Amino acid sequence: MNIGIIGAGHIGSALAVRLTSLDHTVYIANSRGPETLKDVEQKTGATPVTAEEAARRGTDLIVVTIPLKNIPDLPNDLFAGVPAQVPVIDTSNYYPLLRDGQMPELETGDLTESEWVQQHLGRPVVKVFNNIYAAHLENKGQPAGTTGRIALPVASDDAAAKQKVMALVEELGFDAVDDGTLHESWRQQPGTPSYGADMPADKLREHLASLGTERTEAQHAEYLANHAKQEQEMAAQGIKLK
Ligand SMILES: NC(=O)c1ccc[n+]([C@@H]2O[C@H](COP(=O)([O-])OP(=O)(O)OC[C@H]3O[C@@H](n4cnc5c(N)ncnc54)[C@H](OP(=O)(O)O)[C@@H]3O)[C@@H](O)[C@H]2O)c1
Repeated sequence: MNIGIIGAGHIGSALAVRLTSLDHTVYIANSRGPETLKDVEQKTGATPVTAEEAARRGTDLIVVTIPLKNIPDLPNDLFAGVPAQVPVIDTSNYYPLLRDGQMPELETGDLTESEWVQQHLGRPVVKVFNNIYAAHLENKGQPAGTTGRIALPVASDDAAAKQKVMALVEELGFDAVDDGTLHESWRQQPGTPSYGADMPADKLREHLASLGTERTEAQHAEYLANHAKQEQEMAAQGIKLK
């Protein structure tokens, strides 16, 4: 496949390494321009391009993997001319304390993170790869059928795009578990029990089903509070996000 990745940090680079190793052709972009991506090119085998070029050349799949706060900085016409059937993956997570600042719609729970991203991009997205550490994404894929194989939740309002992305998740060495619509994707957001937990498929399916589909106020408050605590712990350890 021809895959465009916008964002060349932890997740973008991890995906690029794995995808080129599976013989996909990968175009990768950051905010500062292709000339600043020589190291990434060497490490991943992906071709550095601009964000617009990544969207044009990713004729089979586009991945947007930049900090949530930077989504509004992407060019307005990023997807101009990109056929509707090309899936767009969103990997974002909301880190209000360490990186993104407070976003009202996410604080109130009116929108999930990826609904917010979808509104800003003006294009249906598929949410995946947000709840696994970049290093695990790069190194912990295993063949189908391996006991304890990590499962990844995949959510989207576009059923066809979701199916394509679930097939890619399997190819990358993870069990793909359907997490419903983007509105239901709160179940894979930070602060929820499956976030960063590397659950196998049976446990993840059971866990997602146990949460229901419509987020209650109590669940929203609980998961925001869990995540706030995680962010405070990260801050205390001196961890900084860009
Ligand atoms: N790190 C993880 O383990 C992990 C796991 C799951 C999900 N996530 C989520 O995935 C997203 C990406 O995380 P990350 O850790 O990979 O981020 P990161 O390491 O900080 O890298 C961010 C990348 O985005 C690029 N970027 C920023 N603004 C851009 C713009 N306007 N146009 C093009 N590129 C832009 C940056 O380019 P420059 O350096 O040139 O600015 C950089 O290459 C975040 O929402 C994060 O919460 C992260």
